[in-house]
Amino acid sequence: MTRLRAATYNQPAFTPFLPESAITQEVAARAAELQSRALKELSTVSDAEGLEAWRVAYLGRKSEVTLLKRSITDVPPGDRREFGQAANAVGEALASAFEQRRADIERPGTKDSDALDVTLPGRPSRIGSIHPITSTVREICAAFGEMGFGVVEGPEVELDHYNFEKLNIPRHHPARDSFNTLWIDKTGDDGERPLLLRTHTSPMQIRTMERQEPPVRVIVPGKVYRYEATDATHEWHFQQIEGLAVDEGVTFADLKGTLYEFARRMFGAERKVRFRCDFFPFVEPGVDMSIDCFKCGGEGCRICGDTGWIEILGAGMVHPNVLEGVGYDPQRYTGFAFGVGIERICMIKHGIDDIRLFYANDLRFLRQF
Ligand code: FA5
Repeated sequence: MTRLRAATYNQPAFTPFLPESAITQEVAARAAELQSRALKELSTVSDAEGLEAWRVAYLGRKSEVTLLKRSITDVPPGDRREFGQAANAVGEALASAFEQRRADIERPGTKDSDALDVTLPGRPSRIGSIHPITSTVREICAAFGEMGFGVVEGPEVELDHYNFEKLNIPRHHPARDSFNTLWIDKTGDDGERPLLLRTHTSPMQIRTMERQEPPVRVIVPGKVYRYEATDATHEWHFQQIEGLAVDEGVTFADLKGTLYEFARRMFGAERKVRFRCDFFPFVEPGVDMSIDCFKCGGEGCRICGDTGWIEILGAGMVHPNVLEGVGYDPQRYTGFAFGVGIERICMIKHGIDDIRLFYANDLRFLRQF
């Protein structure tokens, strides 16, 4: 620790005058003793409080210096001028020593509590950790990457054209209802709203196919939004990973093989997987895939809605209308697509029983990862 050093100012020597009488001698001795005692004490003062106490004791209205000056009445008239000068010199010496000490104390880094000790090891700054959803996205991308899928990304504010129309969901089709869309409040010339917050990552199927010829094998991680009430397994904004593979001779067996392999890599071989028929206008046939509930092991509980299963993705064979819409020949090419809910995967992997924890910004939760 850098400690406050003893005062380094020059301590002016007491200038004795030549007293004539015994009484003057005594007063002169008092003055000398007072100056040396005061300066000694001042050198031990190390903070503002101590300094103020010292000032009151030695320089205040009722201080020892004031009393000394007043004792001039005890000095015979012939000695008074010299005594007065000597007493004033004591006062000035103490006042100047006080100012120096105050400057020393107020200088930053001289108080013990402020002192900077450059020899101490530094305090480690707290480093945040990767959000569990981000690490799950990375893990899923790595799993599909090893199976030959490349990663692409797309816009969160999307056109109706890509989010619905090119996915075989025309205007006024009832399938739109299931997507609980958040629309951007801007109408086009036709009186319709062309922009929305994407409700799924599937529009990137179209954008990808428009940009390239088969073979296609991509995954698309990203945020999606739905005007939905939240509960333990539903958020109004969440993340998906879209997958798309199109080539000659791609079959439903490829779809199942790829998704089984994905589940095995993410959850281990012992986890149960269930495929069921489902409807999505942009695939035919369509399925959803579920994993047995991590909480109840299939018995049924609050998390799985008493079903024993947690749905993690929708999938299917790309609809011929969709292939045709991007200029692919559906007689020649076939493909499969899937959309995985990231939060659900993360919940199953880590045994998290409420999806809302991911975005509540509670550090007690986040620091566990
Ligand atoms: C879709 O979004 C389709 N685009 C998936 C798809 C892609 C089907 C390609 C066929 C081909 P769905 O609405 O079921 O489908 O959502 C897919 C997954 O997202 C669900 O299985 C679930 O894991 C997750 N998910 C859906 N809604 C929510 C929500 N509100 N909160 C959290 N996760 C959700």
